[in-house]
Amino acid sequence: MNTTATAAPVTLSNDLLTGMEWGPAQVRSFLHLAADVKAHPDRYRGALAGRFFALIFEKPSLRTRVTFEVGIASLGGACVFLDHTVTHLGERESIPDVAKSLERWVTGIVARVFKQESLEQLAANAGIPVINALSDRFHPCQAFADFFTLEERFGNLRGLKVAYVGDGNNTCHSLLSIGARVGAHVRVATPAGYEPDPNIVAEAKRVVRETRGKIEILRSPAEAVAGAQAIYTDTWTSMGQEQESATRAAAFADYQVNDALFAHAAPDAIFMHCLPAHRGSEVSEAVMDSPRSIVFEQAENRLHVQKAILLTLLN
Ligand code: CP
Ligand code: NVA
Repeated sequence: MNTTATAAPVTLSNDLLTGMEWGPAQVRSFLHLAADVKAHPDRYRGALAGRFFALIFEKPSLRTRVTFEVGIASLGGACVFLDHTVTHLGERESIPDVAKSLERWVTGIVARVFKQESLEQLAANAGIPVINALSDRFHPCQAFADFFTLEERFGNLRGLKVAYVGDGNNTCHSLLSIGARVGAHVRVATPAGYEPDPNIVAEAKRVVRETRGKIEILRSPAEAVAGAQAIYTDTWTSMGQEQESATRAAAFADYQVNDALFAHAAPDAIFMHCLPAHRGSEVSEAVMDSPRSIVFEQAENRLHVQKAILLTLLN
């Protein structure tokens, strides 16, 4: 890898399973590297020449699959896509046996799984980096791209008011844990029974003592977005929860991000969504398609940020 003085390589844990492996200083260095990768893609061409990756996806994907495949190819590497949407990991053979086989052939594993434990089993049994491409618990690649996008937009993440309205899910967990590391002020509003995991909230609250960010878990969407510079939402029904979709639609009815909710936010507040979006459910058509919406900037930045993740872990 051809690095510059402004994008020094960082030494980090060899896996990215939760996004909590990296402390605030490491996240700062990492965002710096991602900015360099985006600004100067030619510097990194060939950095992964001769490296091969297994992409294991137990769930569908547009953004994550395409950005990893394109990102790996643009760094000179190659990947093998293992479509496990029908046969889940551990069904045909044990996860340790999958991991011990893959490590003989490839230099890294990118996995989208139903259970966080599957990622942990892969990592424990393969001596190569394992990257979480979304699990039931976390979506770290998304949240790193989101804070990278926010930094591009606002110039500074410290104290930035980011409101997340909706389900306390994988996306919410990663926004909390990575938001804490960059010193943001993250407010979450969920209906009763759909709050983020208290252990993840507690960890984020410990981290903001160091970064001077702030974490608040609330019930009222209007309270959460008051003065916010960004409003973020995600689907009410995540992949794997389809049988709960009617119950969830009822529970989240008052949590739509629409113009009425934006009236409580800062005047120039932006809208964010990890996508795929459901217009008329978690976000109104008008907000989704408004000039406030930076959802496709987020999607673009998945590519640059994930290239930086690969460079960091394989450095
Ligand atoms: N945001 C995201 O991860 O999108 P995909 O499910 O399409 O990969
Ligand atoms: N929370 C969503 C995110 C999709 C990118 C899900 O897990 O389905």
